[in-house]
Amino acid sequence: MELATTLTSQSFQNVVREVGINPNYWYPVGWANQLAPGEVMPAVIWQLKIAIYRDFQNQLYALEDICPHKGVALHKGIVQGNHLACRYHGWAFDGTGKCVSIPYLPSQQKLPCAQVRSYPVQEKYNLIWVFPGDQELAQKQLPPEMPEFDNSDWFMVPVSARMNAHFSICNENSMDVFHGFLHQNLQGWFDPVLKSLQATEAKVCAQYDVSYKGRIAQFVGLSDRADQVTTRTVSVEYRYPHYYSSLEGMSALYLMRLPVGLTASRSFALFFFKIRLPKWLKQLVTPVLQKLLQRFVFMKFLNQDIEMMESEQQTYLANPQRRYVEINPAIIAVQRLIVRQYKQFMQQSSQLSNNQHVDSQQMVNNNVTQQTLKKNILL
Ligand code: FES
Ligand SMILES: [Fe+2]
Repeated sequence: MELATTLTSQSFQNVVREVGINPNYWYPVGWANQLAPGEVMPAVIWQLKIAIYRDFQNQLYALEDICPHKGVALHKGIVQGNHLACRYHGWAFDGTGKCVSIPYLPSQQKLPCAQVRSYPVQEKYNLIWVFPGDQELAQKQLPPEMPEFDNSDWFMVPVSARMNAHFSICNENSMDVFHGFLHQNLQGWFDPVLKSLQATEAKVCAQYDVSYKGRIAQFVGLSDRADQVTTRTVSVEYRYPHYYSSLEGMSALYLMRLPVGLTASRSFALFFFKIRLPKWLKQLVTPVLQKLLQRFVFMKFLNQDIEMMESEQQTYLANPQRRYVEINPAIIAVQRLIVRQYKQFMQQSSQLSNNQHVDSQQMVNNNVTQQTLKKNILL
């Protein structure tokens, strides 16, 4: 659906700062190359604690991070073959979460019925993805497509960050091209104009005309000279629950969001652009150039954003009733999408629970925000 692009005052839905996620999507939880065979790492997806381990055949598994014996976090455990043994008494679980051995149980005795929930997990684009929702839907959904990933024409810079803010605040920041003001000292962008805006059930797409000038613009190929102003069309898409932006085929940004809790989020971003270097030289300088760009370009931008997002969150927490004014219709559309996705999921899961089909873990997970949602969303 085509939406109006007029910048006009619209009511801001405070409920968007309280809603939970629709878990029926793949969420990234860490960089795949940072989890070696035999290692375990903890992850949190919207208050749901998960232990992810890699066995010695390189296979990944995701289990609920709670030992069914006494509740110790399984990510403290030890990988044994393709099982994960809890650090406390050594109860071992297979990749499906079934208890397969207890070191001190006499061999003739039957194992107790102790099961940990397991989650679909996969490795793609050097990221580990977990599907926290309905396992039957895991096959139907896919992590975002990234055709640039294996294409040597593109130079890739991975950047991850943590922010103490609700994921709606972070996603609005990504969708909001009008905050070039914040990055002016870093030669960001200026004079943005919202040209078009579309919204569908699971997506908001906005196109902005934006002007650039400076050495960074020259480096990423936007202009031939640093002192030259160039105006380009930036397309920004919030494809729930992740974000994608591209600049006339010259650069692309995939920003994957991990909602951790009500006031904590993480992001895993892959930025692609073309640099004017011979292939052999590009290969040679890639690791160093990636580190330099992460540190001296991307983290500088990101740290400015994080300061704003966290400030926004703190003020919200101090007074959740206070009203705010928004004039960018793209932000309102993002807020509506976030609320709609959660509402949809909650409606589906309450239908399921009426039919007694929802499992208890799912309900506990939902209940964290269910009360707030029911109170606010049904207004
Ligand atoms: S608490 Fe995990 S084995 Fe005892
Ligand atoms: Fe920014």
